[in-house]
Amino acid sequence: MRYGYFDDEKREYVITRPDTPLPWINYLGKENYFALISNTAGGYSFYKDARLRRLTRYRYNDVPSDSNGRYIYIRDETSGRFWSPTWQPVRLYLDEFKCRHGLGYTTILSSKFDIKTQIRYFVPPGEDLEIWDLSLTNARPDTAHLHVFSAIEFALWNALEDATNFQRNLSIGEVEIEENFILHKTEYRERRDHFAYFACSGVIVGYDTQRGSFLGRDRGWENPIAVEEGASRNSFAQGWAPIGSLQASIHLEPNKTERLIVVLGYQQNPRDQKFDPPESQNVNKNLVKPTIENYLRPSTVDLAFDELCKEWDRSLQIFQVETPDEHTNRMVNTWNQYQCMVNFNLSRSASYFESGISRGIGFRDSNQDLLGVIHMIPERARERILDLAATQLEDGGAFHQYQPLTKQGNVEIGTNFNDDPLWLVLAASAYLKETRDWDVLDELVPFENIVGSEGPLYMHLQRSIDYTLERLGPHGLPLIGRADWNDCLNLNTFSTEPDESFQTAGITDGKVAESVFIAGLFILAAEEMVQIASIRGREQEAKEYREAAQRMEAAVLKHGWDGEWFLRAYDHFGKKVGSHSCQEGQIFIEPQGVCIMAGIGLEKGSAQRALDSVGKRLATEHGILLHQPAYTSYQTRLGEITSYPPGYKENAGVFCHTNPWIMIAEALLGNGDRAMDYYLRINPSAREHLSEVHRCEPYVYAQMIAGRDAPTFGEAKNSWLTGTAAWNYVAITQWILGIRPTYQGLCISPVLPNDWPGFSVKRKFQGVTYHIEATRIRPGNEVRLRVEGDLLPGVIVPFPPQGTSDVNVEVTLL
Ligand code: BGC
Ligand code: NOJ
Repeated sequence: MRYGYFDDEKREYVITRPDTPLPWINYLGKENYFALISNTAGGYSFYKDARLRRLTRYRYNDVPSDSNGRYIYIRDETSGRFWSPTWQPVRLYLDEFKCRHGLGYTTILSSKFDIKTQIRYFVPPGEDLEIWDLSLTNARPDTAHLHVFSAIEFALWNALEDATNFQRNLSIGEVEIEENFILHKTEYRERRDHFAYFACSGVIVGYDTQRGSFLGRDRGWENPIAVEEGASRNSFAQGWAPIGSLQASIHLEPNKTERLIVVLGYQQNPRDQKFDPPESQNVNKNLVKPTIENYLRPSTVDLAFDELCKEWDRSLQIFQVETPDEHTNRMVNTWNQYQCMVNFNLSRSASYFESGISRGIGFRDSNQDLLGVIHMIPERARERILDLAATQLEDGGAFHQYQPLTKQGNVEIGTNFNDDPLWLVLAASAYLKETRDWDVLDELVPFENIVGSEGPLYMHLQRSIDYTLERLGPHGLPLIGRADWNDCLNLNTFSTEPDESFQTAGITDGKVAESVFIAGLFILAAEEMVQIASIRGREQEAKEYREAAQRMEAAVLKHGWDGEWFLRAYDHFGKKVGSHSCQEGQIFIEPQGVCIMAGIGLEKGSAQRALDSVGKRLATEHGILLHQPAYTSYQTRLGEITSYPPGYKENAGVFCHTNPWIMIAEALLGNGDRAMDYYLRINPSAREHLSEVHRCEPYVYAQMIAGRDAPTFGEAKNSWLTGTAAWNYVAITQWILGIRPTYQGLCISPVLPNDWPGFSVKRKFQGVTYHIEATRIRPGNEVRLRVEGDLLPGVIVPFPPQGTSDVNVEVTLL
């Protein structure tokens, strides 16, 4: 069953009813100001940091009811009836309803009592504000006399305090009221130099800033007294719960359309110019007023929207594909890239499953997210790599997370997630291959952000490698520390207390438990370092990295192979995890993916054996499971992984992030059919027809799909913010379509399903547009490349002479 459809040409997903299984959301903003918006206008906004600069309130643990959002009430002054054109919060049945989620904007269209409305929400590029661009059309025979109430609930900036510290909060709320805008200035009197504003164009006939006055006693957002009676209270908030609500009056003749613009924004004033007059407590509005005036003008709004669309057009033009499969096309061309950008911007902080108050920017997460965006935003990727490296510790370890506002490592969570540092090498090398910006390696970057500790980025990468090498266990495999990629495989925690963190509590000295996953990841990273070091003429270092990788491979083959698949780990007692000799958790997906990606067992057949085992034991119609059998009871020696009921999350769910590793492994072994089959099992568009089972948005990946041990097998959770986005993008574009940047040029080496007649791709790479036409002559993966008609040896198109703008490549598959 579907709840909408893809409009591929407009790059929109069109939701045709308000009652999707869960709120289906979108994101606005991509620089500093961000907003989440659901298909019924739920969600919240913040500046840079969802925890520390929250503009609007959201009530947690409230899916699917989705309360709090950007609300509009329309009241018919003649009949006294009122409704919400976005369905929420009044929830009166709408005669027509459509929500169009697009790239950086959401448009909600509806019709009620013959009044048609369209509201387009977006954040203008480069601005710290959001627009609600509302058009009302009168389809009645008579003039309509309408009042439009806009409403939002302000959060008191620090979202965690906002939700917990009421003895203070209920006394500190402050606002200022101007002719057509409301200013939220709680805590501005003291250390804050920022405030929020809420403005509306049109004829303003009333306002409210105190929630209690606007809603009335014993009422909710669905039936505010002010709206019901058509009369704002003109309330002035002191303490309690500041809101912004402006009431505009419209007289709309038949067949006429009128536009109202609402602006919600964030403004920072210079510290020494906070007040006007200086000795007063009045906010200095000189800086903000021109912005408000400007954006209440439809012409400015139109220009800004146009610019937003053009920006996305430019970004997406860098990689466009046409294949025989519509799910591949729309995900690769639009939605997967879009989701990658959202992940890059937000890491794991704010979604309908991440509260925005608990997590900062994850070190491993962001490094992996980079893999999906470097081609679109190389400059921002560079900055992120340097920011991440600056949180690295001198011993090469990494803070597991940092706070986006301060960019300081998060001390509470700390370090010793032993896979973390290696991801930096993968991100940096991906950046180098895309850009050949070798200078980045010489950038001086501090350790732990400590001034004076700076070393070149290259040194940071070296320390990442050393960190693993200095932490090997009894089998010569990397020690796992608090966890590796699987945050829930906590082999050193032994937690028995309910409120302890599985990741940070009671670690043993950690000198025994080892991870085969990190071993594979290490080889991948060390091999990148071999290439980087040799290109930079550091032959001795290249040799050392090569040898370290070989030693690690030997350790994996000796101690990390279980006979039919790669082992997962050794626990604190030196016992195997992920072995046929275990009762539960016999086979895990992660080491199969990463060890094969690292090239282990490609020639001698063990890679194929491991993949056959994955196919037999882990693959399901809803994706590939994390492990089998699921753990049926909690075990302290394994940690959080055994805390989940079977089939959910890390306990044998389909943890989608890992699936592309298997797709890549299949592609490496030349199994195009299997790679594509796995790709489509979790591709959200390919699951659209199952929306009543999948339940999350059909246009973005979710972190997890419940596994076959769960009663809700096939149900997705935790959509949007997940490493799944970047890795699927890498798997399909670089390994199945086979187009990947290398230091020597653009590699084109597709491994396609046998029934694909071919595909075409336009890829911009280092200033050159490659027009790639692939044609299959017969089944198989042998690739022949012709560049401008000339047959080329190998699969890498070398960099063309300077000044070349276009290169035509014919690819023949034999
Ligand atoms: C989740 C993991 C997540 C970890 C991060 C755990 O509860 O299951 O998926 O990585 O928390 O804090
Ligand atoms: C989500 C976390 O953000 C990510 O870092 C981790 O690898 C996965 N969960 C698996 O535990």
